[in-house]
Amino acid sequence: MDKIEKIKKLKKERNAIILAHNYQRPEVQDVADYIGDSLGLAIEASKTDASVIVFCGVDFMAESAKILNPDKIVLHPEKHARCPMAAMVDAVALKKLKEEKKMDVVAYVNTTAEVKAIADMCCTSANAVKVVKSMPDGVIFVPDENLGKYVKRFVDNEMILWPGFCPTHQAMSPEDIIEMKKEHPHAVVMAHPECMPDVIDLADKVASTEGMVKYAKESDAKEFIVATEIGLCYRMKKEMPDKEFYCISHAVCPTMKKITLDSVLRSLEKMQYEVKIPEDVIERARKPLMKMIEMGRD
Ligand code: 13P
Ligand code: SF4
Repeated sequence: MDKIEKIKKLKKERNAIILAHNYQRPEVQDVADYIGDSLGLAIEASKTDASVIVFCGVDFMAESAKILNPDKIVLHPEKHARCPMAAMVDAVALKKLKEEKKMDVVAYVNTTAEVKAIADMCCTSANAVKVVKSMPDGVIFVPDENLGKYVKRFVDNEMILWPGFCPTHQAMSPEDIIEMKKEHPHAVVMAHPECMPDVIDLADKVASTEGMVKYAKESDAKEFIVATEIGLCYRMKKEMPDKEFYCISHAVCPTMKKITLDSVLRSLEKMQYEVKIPEDVIERARKPLMKMIEMGRD
């Protein structure tokens, strides 16, 4: 029996579902029951009937699935697949800032469970503008400064921005886009809001990863430059074979790529690595996470 068949068999035996983020390796995307952006994955995790969730993404995504399903087993196939941006907020310092400023906290979903437990509301890149608009008294926004700056373009609310960033998106430059545009002058430019403002300025469309998939499907354009992690281009090409997608070759998230077909198989065989979060943290983090889901997309 090959690896894929073994994964399928074990999935059935364990009543498991495989959720995968758009940045996962092609072969991991191919065995997933659902592929999507952070918001779509959280929604899917909140409504699944499966007993076991195998989460192919980074730590904060698997943690969110556990917070939404405290009674289910959530497995993260690679425990070291940790988002560096989520590690940029220190929960103690954030609590202190919140007390000092007496302002509500909006935590991007790319945060640890401890940080979500301090937050009043969570958001993803698919609804950050809507979430911040719903809090007219101003917010402390953690941890992605670029996403915060992007939201600021649409709201008048006071926003204190935490100086966090995604190393993969931060490394994309305007020159990357300009060079690709020279090669593909008719291509539409799509960018993730985690990109630097000068990259965002060159984009025709700014969206979450799922937002980009939707936009490309609905567009009459045939060519797209995709300023986000390279994994998304695999899904786009698979679902839209008549269109061309050009990703930036160095736009690779090393932590997303830690998960392989072997680790997914091992995860189902050995039921590893189970996501564990203290009960009181789950209780406090669930509220802002649920509010984020109820908010829907921008
Ligand atoms: P999306 O929610 O747009 O999929 O983004 C998640 C992420 O980690 C981007 O780097
Ligand atoms: Fe974190 Fe950036 Fe990787 Fe997304 S692409 S998981 S923000 S490091």
